[in-house]
Amino acid sequence: MNWIVLFLVAILSASDGAIQPTHFQHHNYNQLTSFMKQQAARCPSIMRLYDIGKSLQGRTLWVMEISDHPGNHEAGEPEMKYVGNMHGNEVTGREILLLLIEYFCSNYNIDSRVTRLINSVRMHIMPTMNPDGWEKAVEGDWSGTTGRYNSRGVDLNRDFPTLHDIVIRQGRYYFDYKARQQETTLVMNWMNAYPFVLSANFHGGALVASYPLDDTLSGQSVYSTTPDDDVFRSLAKTYSYAHPTMWKGQSCSRNSRSHQNKSFSNGITNGAAWYAISGGMQDVNYLTTNCFEITIETGCQKYPYGTSLQKEWLNHKNALLKYIEQIHRGIKGFILNSSNQGIYGASLVIQGRNKIIYATEYGDYWRLLLPGTYKATVSYPGYISVTKTVTVTSGATKQVNFTLSRQVYPTGQ
Ligand SMILES: *[C@@H]1O[C@H](CO)[C@@H](O)[C@H](O)[C@H]1NC(C)=O
Ligand SMILES: *[C@@H]1O[C@H](CO)[C@@H](O)[C@H](O)[C@H]1NC(C)=O
Ligand SMILES: *[C@@H]1O[C@H](CO)[C@@H](O)[C@H](O)[C@H]1NC(C)=O
Repeated sequence: MNWIVLFLVAILSASDGAIQPTHFQHHNYNQLTSFMKQQAARCPSIMRLYDIGKSLQGRTLWVMEISDHPGNHEAGEPEMKYVGNMHGNEVTGREILLLLIEYFCSNYNIDSRVTRLINSVRMHIMPTMNPDGWEKAVEGDWSGTTGRYNSRGVDLNRDFPTLHDIVIRQGRYYFDYKARQQETTLVMNWMNAYPFVLSANFHGGALVASYPLDDTLSGQSVYSTTPDDDVFRSLAKTYSYAHPTMWKGQSCSRNSRSHQNKSFSNGITNGAAWYAISGGMQDVNYLTTNCFEITIETGCQKYPYGTSLQKEWLNHKNALLKYIEQIHRGIKGFILNSSNQGIYGASLVIQGRNKIIYATEYGDYWRLLLPGTYKATVSYPGYISVTKTVTVTSGATKQVNFTLSRQVYPTGQ
């Protein structure tokens, strides 16, 4: 009797009913390109392969869009992105993102969790931001730098605008358009081309979920908080606790550099409290767009052997899915004028949080928040501002619409 029960338990825990991916191998640029094309061809109703341009050496920066209406922003539906391999020798992100694409393709209308995600979120997955660096990197690398940089030797995660570059004037962000690497510029254009709400980028050499800010004005490695520290800590913990060991926060004892052998409470850290960097990508997402991005360090070894990839996929699979599900928290809705048309660029501010969320061209907005009661104020020049008190629960996003009327100026004076 007992062995039957054990057998069933073993089967059920080994498989969640979904079809598991099979391509556990490293993919060089050509293999990655054909893999992405194959998946897009296999699942044309939910996938669209596009690119944001080419790396310096001419390799295409591919993105797979996954959605029930690929190619379209559906009004009210949030968008997210995953970016892998910006350091060319930190390769686990690249491979688990390819496996995630395969997993979504295989399980739409088969697995309810996958189906729900594809129906309710527009996802954009870029397995590699630095394909040129990858081609130089060496399998088995633990904590080296060969292949880390782009083909001009620049660290792409130091090439974005720094805290010193970004200035705020009348509630809008500006930064100097200094010359940047091609890969950086293309990603910045991409960040502004879609209404991303949530994002993560993938690194290696440690096992931790790190959240903004990475930068400090002083350059010292001290906690550098955003007004949304509670939201970021929760996002990071969602990832670390959905991974079998990241939440333990153990140090990578084999890595002798001090920042790599640190231990982390709950498997999360503020970026700058760990070690401050300027010009990182996650800060720019939060400081200049609506998007909340964190950085996932996928494991101690930067370039694991291909034989470890199945284990890495199993380690990260649930965390990858659970993280995307966090997009359905807080409040969302439309900011409309009195003829029910969206007000593009209207701003939404939560009292006590110095962070503006802007409405898209459709008038829709998303504001990630933890459960609690908040005052939300919506404004746009020429319109009368509206403030609403909203209560967020631990359930799905709360819909809150705002209708603004035009300011009427006294005449005849
Ligand atoms: C961690 O890094 C520090 C600084 O490089 C070094 O002194 C220490 O020995 C390392 N610890 C281990 C366990 O490797
Ligand atoms: C609402 O916005 C639309 C589109 O911008 C505009 O054509 C219309 O005049 C606006 N209506 C009012 C009452 O402001
Ligand atoms: C908010 O506005 C949208 C678009 O006009 C509408 O579909 C939705 O039902 C509204 N939601 C609420 C809670 O009023």
